[in-house]
Amino acid sequence: MRRNRPIRRSPRTRIGRFRLADLKDVLGIESAAFRRDAFPAEVFLRLHQDCPELFLVAKSHGSAVGYAGSFIEGSDAEIVSIAVDPKHRGRGIGKALMMHTLAKLKASGIQRVTLTVRPSNRPAMRLYSILGFQPVRRISRYYADGADAIEMQLVLSHATRAGASISSGKACS
Ligand SMILES: CC(C)(COP(=O)(O)OP(=O)(O)OC[C@H]1O[C@@H](n2cnc3c(N)ncnc32)[C@H](O)[C@@H]1OP(=O)(O)O)[C@@H](O)C(=O)NCCC(=O)NCCS
Repeated sequence: MRRNRPIRRSPRTRIGRFRLADLKDVLGIESAAFRRDAFPAEVFLRLHQDCPELFLVAKSHGSAVGYAGSFIEGSDAEIVSIAVDPKHRGRGIGKALMMHTLAKLKASGIQRVTLTVRPSNRPAMRLYSILGFQPVRRISRYYADGADAIEMQLVLSHATRAGASISSGKACS
C-alpha cells in the first residue's frame, strides 16, 4: 500500500563501548556542550583505559552522537561526563545512555552513584530527577566561571558488597 505521508523516524542509534576511533566525535560533542569547562582528551583516554565498560557511546550512521563515561571507586560510581550532540538532543539518547550506565552499575553491585550538575542546567537536572537522583549538596564555585554545582546522588542498593565487578571481575578506579 502506498503511504501518502512518510512517517518521520529518529535515525537509528546504537549504544556500545567507546573505541579510540570515536575520540574525535566525543571531543567535538564535549566542546560544544561544555565550552570552557570541557574535559581534555586525557580524561577520555583515562576513562577508556580504566573503565572501558562504563564509557559508552551512542552512534548514528557510524558517528558518535552522544556519550557517557563513569569511574568506579569502591562501592561508589561517579558519572564523569554525559553529553549528546546538539543536533540529536530530545530524542531519548541521553536517557538511554544513562539507563545503560545505571544497569551496568547495578549489575556490578555498585551502591551509590554521584554526579555534579549546574543548577541552571534544566535538561540535565530533569533527566537525573526522572531517573531517581536526589540533590545532596551544593558545591561553591565549582565551575570555571565561578558558578556553584549541585551534587546529585542515586542509591542503587543498600546491600553490603565486597567489591565492584565490571564483567572482568576487576574494579575500575
Ligand atoms: C542533558 C542531555 C545529555 C540530555 O540528552 P537528550 O538526549 O537531549 O535527553 P533525552 O532526549 O534522553 O531526554 C531525557 C529527559 O531529559 C529531560 N530533558 C531533555 N531535554 C530537555 C529540555 N530541553 N528541557 C527540559 N527537560 C529536558 C526530559 O525529562 C526528558 O525526558 P522526557 O522527554 O520523557 O520528558 C543533553 O541536553 C546534553 O547533552 N546537554 C549538554 C551537556 C550536559 O549538560 N550534560 C550534563 C552535564 S551534568
